[in-house]
Amino acid sequence: MTAVGEESALASADGRGSRARPQGFRPPGWLHPLVVAASIIPFVWVAYAFYSDLVNNTRLLTSEPIKEAEHFTGKWALRFLLVCLAVTPLMRIIGLGWLVKYRRTFGLIAFGYAVVHLGIYFGLDIELMWSNLVEDVLDRLYITLGMLALLLMVPLAITSTKGWIKRLGNKKWNALHRLVYVSGVLGVIHFYMAVKRDVREPLLYGAILAASFGYRWFWNRRETQRRQMTALAR
Ligand code: HEM
Repeated sequence: MTAVGEESALASADGRGSRARPQGFRPPGWLHPLVVAASIIPFVWVAYAFYSDLVNNTRLLTSEPIKEAEHFTGKWALRFLLVCLAVTPLMRIIGLGWLVKYRRTFGLIAFGYAVVHLGIYFGLDIELMWSNLVEDVLDRLYITLGMLALLLMVPLAITSTKGWIKRLGNKKWNALHRLVYVSGVLGVIHFYMAVKRDVREPLLYGAILAASFGYRWFWNRRETQRRQMTALAR
């Protein structure tokens, strides 16, 4: 979702010019569809496991298939969101500018998993009871935060097209798409609060998020200094 795969947008989700321009290497045309197909494997698996548990009485999703499917899709939503946020630092560190195209893909896939996660919670866990949904959102902080994380992803998914970049202009579009960081932080806190005992995984995701922020901060500072030096040298 952040910084869609356009060159203009590359200039960048930080609102500053990126030096990670697409290099000479162009990835083969089949790579993108392959990445998309690989990204939906967890969804296909959980859908199959759920069906099998229901129809064939298997225990692929333990004895609580709804809860398990809820957790599974929530985790994948967060993983893809983190991957989406890691693309920019990775592009800059290893100089693979063409990766920019994948930021949008991973962001949209994260959004897809989050919608399925909400669908499982609302449709199967609380069985379409609007009153329970409202009660949960108001009374359980981790659900409030999860809901916020998802709501913030909606405008990002909608405006992730080339047309919207043009309509909003780079500056406004980049500012709007910075919301993806907020969504990431809320997602990690939501995860941390949702797990009852073993918090190692949410802490690991928090560390990945912090490393991604840290790198951006460091890079932005270096760029500012570089610009100041260039201006002074003139
Ligand atoms: C509409 C918004 C959301 C609602 C209502 C919601 C609801 C829930 C619920 C009920 C659980 C299970 C907690 C339990 O078993 O006690 C959960 C877990 C989780 N959710 Fe969400 N969630 C939402 C959005 C999100 C988003 C946007 C993400 C990721 C970016 C996310 C990631 C997770 C994760 C990682 C878990 C924990 C999985 C585990 O314990 O293994 N959720 N969520």
